[in-house]
Amino acid sequence: MTNPAAAWTVLEAAARKDAQTRIVDLFTAEPDRLERLVVEACGLRLDLSKQPWSRAGLAAALDLAAAAGVEAARDRLFAGEAVNVTENRAALHMALRAPDGAGFQALGKPVSDAVETVRNRMRAFAEAVRAGEILGATGKPFRTIVHIGIGGSDLGPRMVWRALKPLEPQIALRFVGNVDPSDLAQALAGLDPETTLVVVVSKTFTTQETMANATAARGWLHAFLGPDGDANLAAASTNLEACAAFGIPAERVFGFEDWVGGRYSVMSAVGLSCAVALGWDVFAALQAGAAAMDDHFRATPLAANAPVLLALAHVFNRNGLGRPVRVVEPYAERLGLLASYLQQLEMESNGKRVTLAGEPVARATATAVFGNSGTNDQHAFFQMLHQGTDVIPVDFVAVARADEGPIRQQPILLANAIAQAEALMAGSPNAAEPHRHFPGDRPSSFILMDRLTPKTLGALIALYEHKVFVEGVLWDICSFDQWGVELGKTLATRVLGELQGGSAGAHDPSTAALIERLKD
Ligand code: F6P
Repeated sequence: MTNPAAAWTVLEAAARKDAQTRIVDLFTAEPDRLERLVVEACGLRLDLSKQPWSRAGLAAALDLAAAAGVEAARDRLFAGEAVNVTENRAALHMALRAPDGAGFQALGKPVSDAVETVRNRMRAFAEAVRAGEILGATGKPFRTIVHIGIGGSDLGPRMVWRALKPLEPQIALRFVGNVDPSDLAQALAGLDPETTLVVVVSKTFTTQETMANATAARGWLHAFLGPDGDANLAAASTNLEACAAFGIPAERVFGFEDWVGGRYSVMSAVGLSCAVALGWDVFAALQAGAAAMDDHFRATPLAANAPVLLALAHVFNRNGLGRPVRVVEPYAERLGLLASYLQQLEMESNGKRVTLAGEPVARATATAVFGNSGTNDQHAFFQMLHQGTDVIPVDFVAVARADEGPIRQQPILLANAIAQAEALMAGSPNAAEPHRHFPGDRPSSFILMDRLTPKTLGALIALYEHKVFVEGVLWDICSFDQWGVELGKTLATRVLGELQGGSAGAHDPSTAALIERLKD
């Protein structure tokens, strides 16, 4: 078998060669291109034919995947081995959504029974809250959930809620992530504490911002309800002692384990608020959709494997063609938080500069990701995508059939998505008027969801999770730790002490001046 270094050399040479042919011309040269490069899996149609790889380029990418040991790494992931090498942890988010009796193990210890126990408790809680059987401190049913969490304890549930929320929810859901007091103030504005359930979500239950917001929200409950207000609290965490110390009743605490990474946690107890506000059936379908993609990823040969192919397309652009930025653009307003969710999933997972063994990486890793939703962004940054000096690949995500009632504008939305992908690739030469010249040859992937349902959303989430994993294997990095966030946290604690009157520490002149200017 080829060694990875040799396979990288072949891939990079193939990409250089492919760059000499326009993508659109590859369709003529390769009549079977579309059928080879469109994969259907779990309600998603993934079209990678507008990517810059020729048949040979794709073959080189697949050889790289084989040489890097993607299949063996995938087996280690599902076997619950310590793929998070720096923390000696498994990464078993697949266990969260597997059907009952799946028999997952983390580092050799069975975990599925415990997952099912928490899942059953979440279901019972969600159903009882929705049925008005679990009530607030004063005996009133809950009408609003305030979900407090940050990073992986926020972005996934926030994205899922926006994607799936009913037009007129029985229980509303608001999110608070930022320690900026404005965030909590806005979330609580107009709410009745008697009918508000505050769900504190933190894997560690030590995160500064979340604990500050949780303490303030508990104070808000106590101010109206007295200490009984604790009955309006619930939590999701791995740190059960800290939840108890905070005053959250044990029957309202939903646990998960350290093998659930924050950014992979949306289908754990972290999704509790969504399970309550969307209803258990919706949450279960979200899990089922992700589980279907897990099965696809686990069992499908590399050449037809959606997460593998998506990873290879991204790596072809990133490493083969030196493109450091990617746009993720859903043509679905409900998916408007997808890019922000993927920013953490991709950039916290793969924004790394050393290999598993701690050596400097041989090549560039994660791309920067941005995007909101089309068509809005066509009137914002798409100018740069079409005529800017950098080539920025795009992941288009579109929904074939919308279910938003009587408003029939879906064809307009879809026409724009299709047209943008075509325009980016085909361009429009205009030698006479350079300002109106579109160079084209700008790549994109096109992910078409038949409908935006809990199941297809679950599949989409798992597609990207596994894509990120495959990239991590190719780059030989640890996708499951996040040491890079620690230094800033430590310094913030130190600076806070100084802002609040503590003795001045050693700082550069710029930092010292800011502290001096802002301290109490
Ligand atoms: O930003 C770092 C981080 O540890 C993320 O990985 C995590 O999702 C987030 O903080 C929140 O952590 P916690 O769930 O422990 O509050």
